[in-house]
Amino acid sequence: MITKLGTFDIDLPVFLAPMAGITDLPFRRLVSRFGAGLVFSEMVASKAMVAETRRSLRIVKSSDDEPLMAVQLAGCDPEIMAEAAKLNEAMGARIIDINMGCPVKKVTSGMAGSSLMRDLSHAAKILKATVEAVSVPVTLKMRTGWDDDNRNAPELAKIAEDTGIQMLTVHGRTRCQFFKGAADWQFIGEVKDAVDIPVLANGDIQTRENAAEALRQSEADGVMIGRGSYGRPWFVAQVAEYLKSGTRLADPDREAQQAVVKEHYLDLIKLYGEHVGVRVARKHLGWYGQRLPGGEAFRSKVVRMDDYRQVCDEIDQFYEDVELKESA
Ligand SMILES: Cc1cc2nc3c(=O)[nH]c(=O)nc-3n(C[C@H](O)[C@H](O)[C@H](O)COP(=O)(O)O)c2cc1C
Repeated sequence: MITKLGTFDIDLPVFLAPMAGITDLPFRRLVSRFGAGLVFSEMVASKAMVAETRRSLRIVKSSDDEPLMAVQLAGCDPEIMAEAAKLNEAMGARIIDINMGCPVKKVTSGMAGSSLMRDLSHAAKILKATVEAVSVPVTLKMRTGWDDDNRNAPELAKIAEDTGIQMLTVHGRTRCQFFKGAADWQFIGEVKDAVDIPVLANGDIQTRENAAEALRQSEADGVMIGRGSYGRPWFVAQVAEYLKSGTRLADPDREAQQAVVKEHYLDLIKLYGEHVGVRVARKHLGWYGQRLPGGEAFRSKVVRMDDYRQVCDEIDQFYEDVELKESA
């Protein structure tokens, strides 16, 4: 199944979701290397982007070993969104994604993220200004609507298509659900029916079978995976292979997992510096450990360590002793 996105032909319709605090360059690089059709940056506030704050520049930083990365912008002012998109294009972004799905109060109270689903005419202005500002493809990520009484994703999807948006992702929950309940993959099918551009189904894909079922119910063109990739940057590639050929690729062996975790860890230290990097890495180490026997003891040890060299030794020791079990 080939997904066309501007001049890009994406032949693995399985994408890594944007996740603030998680999908930074070190994580995306690993997911890309195992194999992903496309990976998304953490969302970056368009205002901070235009001011070129240190943090925003770090969020959008890419590298040559990421074959295809979309920069995700959040914001409520069409001109600033357009400016931020232009700036990213000039810095090398190959795809711009717009966030109309974030449920967090800090974002929605500024009329950005999912609150834009409550004002479709304003949403349209943002989409139009951004699309007109750049020549790279612009995509949009949304929820099913604001709440159960206002599931207007199909309407927003049509507006987006008409303004030149080239692909949509739908997280199958309303804003008011936050992360509660189950993602409604069937409803994503209503978005798919409303437009001709590619639609990705997102939400609750934790196993290969979930991905196949999400596609069956939604008839979407591909899936986007967020939390299912915690502690297993190889999962996106496993899902892609399963959807393509039915083959269940094994998890990497013990030495390979050890090397991945070490590389991820050292990359985080390099990107954030030791003080911040050690802290940012703790959740990842917890997730890597969670999937393995003895992982809880490993996690509780490393979250107390401040010296990255000590953590590296602990990672080596953990993986030298651990017995792997196959994940979902
Ligand atoms: C920690 C975290 C951070 C997230 N940050 C973003 C973000 O920056 N932009 C965005 O569009 N969605 C964000 N999301 C939502 C995910 O992209 C995705 O839509 C959601 O987690 C549902 O998919 P999943 O069940 O596969 O995780 C975030 C989700 C989580 C858990």
